[in-house]
Amino acid sequence: MKRIKIADVLKSESFGNEILVKGWVRTKRVSKNVCFIALNDGSTINNLQIVIDVTPEMEELLAKIHTGASLSVLGKTVESAGSGQKVELQCINPEILGQANPDEYPLQPKRHSLEFLREIAHLRFRTNTFSAVFRIRHAMTFAIHKFFNDKGFSNIHTPIITGSDAEGAGEMFQVTTLDIEKMPRTEDGKIDYTQDFFGKMTNLTVSGQLEAELAAMGLSEVYTFGPTFRAENSNTARHLAEFWMIEPEMAFYDINDDMDLAEEMLQYLVKYALENCREDLEFLHKRREEEQKQKPQNERDSMGLIDRLEFVVANEFARVTYTEAIDILKNSNANKKGQFAYPVESWGTDLQSEHERYLVEKHYKKPVILIDYPKEIKAFYMKQNEDGKTVRAMDVLFPQIGEIIGGSQREEDYEKLLNRINEMHIPEKDMWWYLETRKFGTVPHSGFGLGFERLMLFVTGMGNIRDVIPFPRTPKNAEF
Ligand code: 4AD
Ligand code: MG
Repeated sequence: MKRIKIADVLKSESFGNEILVKGWVRTKRVSKNVCFIALNDGSTINNLQIVIDVTPEMEELLAKIHTGASLSVLGKTVESAGSGQKVELQCINPEILGQANPDEYPLQPKRHSLEFLREIAHLRFRTNTFSAVFRIRHAMTFAIHKFFNDKGFSNIHTPIITGSDAEGAGEMFQVTTLDIEKMPRTEDGKIDYTQDFFGKMTNLTVSGQLEAELAAMGLSEVYTFGPTFRAENSNTARHLAEFWMIEPEMAFYDINDDMDLAEEMLQYLVKYALENCREDLEFLHKRREEEQKQKPQNERDSMGLIDRLEFVVANEFARVTYTEAIDILKNSNANKKGQFAYPVESWGTDLQSEHERYLVEKHYKKPVILIDYPKEIKAFYMKQNEDGKTVRAMDVLFPQIGEIIGGSQREEDYEKLLNRINEMHIPEKDMWWYLETRKFGTVPHSGFGLGFERLMLFVTGMGNIRDVIPFPRTPKNAEF
């Protein structure tokens, strides 16, 4: 007989059907003559209740079933007498696929801390919280491809191993097959990369943008959705060393078109989650509410998870220049009272996530797009404004998160781009192909990067980025 998924069983309106289900035991409860097993197969947050009559023959088998065991159950669907579910399964034949020794199995039917679950990331998919998070992660992946596909964008696979530093921040993991115990040296004592696998120094990419730009110069509208790697030593709840990024790149778009697309995409994705991940979101909403109760009054959220998602869909984002933002921050009470860890003193300083969150959560009380940043704090490829001081950058700032998107209009003028590359001491010889697109049929163009796990933090309301990617990579941690 073919297995039916529990999500489909729970949706069905007819009873008395003989079906086969498979899954993992969440709880087992035995009363005098009946045993109730809550079975979950990950197709939904909800469990299917299995009802087993406790006969003498059955007792031996039942004694072997514990939380975490996997079962295959042939049974008949019956209308449930208990509240909370419409249908349950009257067991005809239970079969244990794999036992879980209760003395060793670390997951028990109680709330475990997220920190503990991170240490058993190989098993945490079996909890309500993580199965909900990863179903939503899948839904968001699908929705991203759907969004761009419906708009006629082409998905481009950009290289993971590169010879250039797209962001110019020097935070790269090196890729080499040289023997690091015995590096080959040139006559002047430097490492001889001509002997390395690619004949040059290579790294894991920090961004697919530069290659996406090349593709946009022929296909007009493209996007990447791939892993990116950053060796920045930021042990925060918002940074990963390996994360996934969505990077659309569009020919003929200026900064305003770029902002419009970013706003439309974020609202589309949040709306998609509200419409397609309802049960999981409701579970996470309640979970967060309970978590909030543990916090002091002044640190609690002003909105519940679902309310916050609905709010973002319903409200236009504020669009503000960096210069305006600095004025607001400088004159804010928080700054005057010394409440920022990094006080805002002058124009030109980079914004910290505390400043970004202040603007979003306290000042504008909605998502904010900041534009026209000082060129010194932004990457070489951003289009220079006429003032000579700022570039046409745009960062989208979200409640709870801070920066969720970073993007810009790109410098399409060959001379200006070359000057900036030289000013910033970026090796020109590594950039010849990028520069050539500005020599041959250059056009105004723009793009941005959405950090996928930052989006996941927002949509799920989880507080730590390590809990929205299956196997997080962070400083001193590459387990699993
Ligand atoms: O602002 P970033 O560095 O921009 C770029 O990489 C551009 N090449 C994007 C583009 O214009 N095509 O990174 C983009 C986004 C950030 O806004 C943030 O959401 C996310 O990537 N991000 C990280 N997410 C998790 N861990 C990290 N260490 C991250 N660094 C950036
Ligand atoms: Mg950025």
